[in-house]
Amino acid sequence: MVVSDKHPVTLITGASSGIGSALAREFAAHGHALVLIARREPRLAQLADEIAARGRPRPHVLPLDLTRADATARIGEALAAQGLEPQFLVNNAGFGLAGAAAELDRAAQLCMIDLNIRALTDLSLAFIDSLARHQGGLLNVASVAGFLPGPGMAVYYASKAYVLSFSEALHRELSGRGVRVTVLCPGPVPTEFQARAGISMRDFPRILTRSAEQVAAEGYRGLMAGRRLVVPGLPNKLATMLVRLAPRGLVLAAMGRRNTGR
Ligand SMILES: NC(=O)c1ccc[n+]([C@@H]2O[C@H](COP(=O)([O-])OP(=O)(O)OC[C@H]3O[C@@H](n4cnc5c(N)ncnc54)[C@H](OP(=O)(O)O)[C@@H]3O)[C@@H](O)[C@H]2O)c1
Repeated sequence: MVVSDKHPVTLITGASSGIGSALAREFAAHGHALVLIARREPRLAQLADEIAARGRPRPHVLPLDLTRADATARIGEALAAQGLEPQFLVNNAGFGLAGAAAELDRAAQLCMIDLNIRALTDLSLAFIDSLARHQGGLLNVASVAGFLPGPGMAVYYASKAYVLSFSEALHRELSGRGVRVTVLCPGPVPTEFQARAGISMRDFPRILTRSAEQVAAEGYRGLMAGRRLVVPGLPNKLATMLVRLAPRGLVLAAMGRRNTGR
């Protein structure tokens, strides 16, 4: 039973583009009241207008850099000021960087950890009581990259391995409290991700590619069904099974040759 006078909302990070925008449209279409978070306010406002124009409640927009140490506190304050609390939380914001770890900028790689790992962990832990009160859930966006080491994108792959492991463990820990925890592991999806990472969609076999909308729909369905893991698309599912069965040294060598030519 819900014992709260606050309005339940779905918080979505990284909603200003790509998979996050698609997730926002998906949750809105299912009647969720939304809080959209990212740095680019005009993009969030545009998406909020679009969702309102479809007859849904206009999402709240919260422009914020999630790598700030006080990001979670700021979100908590903004929600409290509006009488809102999370029923669902979608940790989607994230980015990658291609290149040899020894050659890429160190601060930029640590920033990736701040966003992909630190902010995601902080937000996941901060709102557990609220998610439990509303019998809601947590959708964390990892990647197929979380299943294997990624020479040529080492920190990004490692960050997604963390998200996968952390979310699976939380799925188990929180099941007794009625909180669903799902980790969404997409393969390649054409978004702004590739330009920021310095890679191209041409680097990936077409058969593995899914649209942001397909990924969002599968993620939403999986979360509502209480599934632990969602890997969108059969070819990606098979790929994750294969890398779990194959010797780790072989996988590492194949990834090294593919990503770095060595
Ligand atoms: N695209 C793929 O092939 C793929 C595959 C597997 C997993 N993923 C994962 O899917 C998630 C979404 O990626 P995407 O493909 O949709 O990429 P995207 O289009 O680049 O979107 C990334 C989102 O994260 C937000 N963001 C970045 N830095 C932020 C910061 N410091 N503070 C707050 N928000 C920040 C961006 O908004 P602002 O710039 O406005 O802040 C944007 O809304 C990521 O976690 C990514 O690792 C992507």
